[in-house]
Amino acid sequence: MTVKFTLNGIAVTAKSDADTPLLWVIRDELGLTGTKFGCGAGLCGACTVHLGGQAIRACQTPLSTVDGKDIRTVESLSKDNSHPLQKAWIAHQVPQCGYCQSGQLMSAAALLATNHQPSDADIDSAMNGNICRCGTYNRIRAAIKDAAAEMRASA
Ligand code: FES
Ligand code: FES
Repeated sequence: MTVKFTLNGIAVTAKSDADTPLLWVIRDELGLTGTKFGCGAGLCGACTVHLGGQAIRACQTPLSTVDGKDIRTVESLSKDNSHPLQKAWIAHQVPQCGYCQSGQLMSAAALLATNHQPSDADIDSAMNGNICRCGTYNRIRAAIKDAAAEMRASA
């Protein structure tokens, strides 16, 4: 099957089978490896990307469903770590093993795209499906608040 969509703003064509999870299309066919495989069952959030600005699980998204859509991966935040979330992640030393963090960042980015002043409850709700076996949750929450403050200041 041939599926055309935009990946981080660039038009791409994928030729994997229609039911191939978007995760594998992004990683194996299109070569962007920032998005991670964790559970493959929609339970951990490691594979989180944006579809039309919404956080989705790429492991649960068949290629056939993204035809004509806008997909963003963690590579879209910035190449030089200048995105407010990337800066805050570094400042708070959020990553430990790091494996879950691209998914964490993409869920946080989807939250801050529509909410520049998230409450603890907003953050907990948005990040609920992203599991971190290293227990970085408190630092993630603090980093999201700092990034939100920078986004408000520059708005
Ligand atoms: S790998 Fe997709 S939710 Fe775990
Ligand atoms: S930093 Fe290790 S799983 Fe989250």
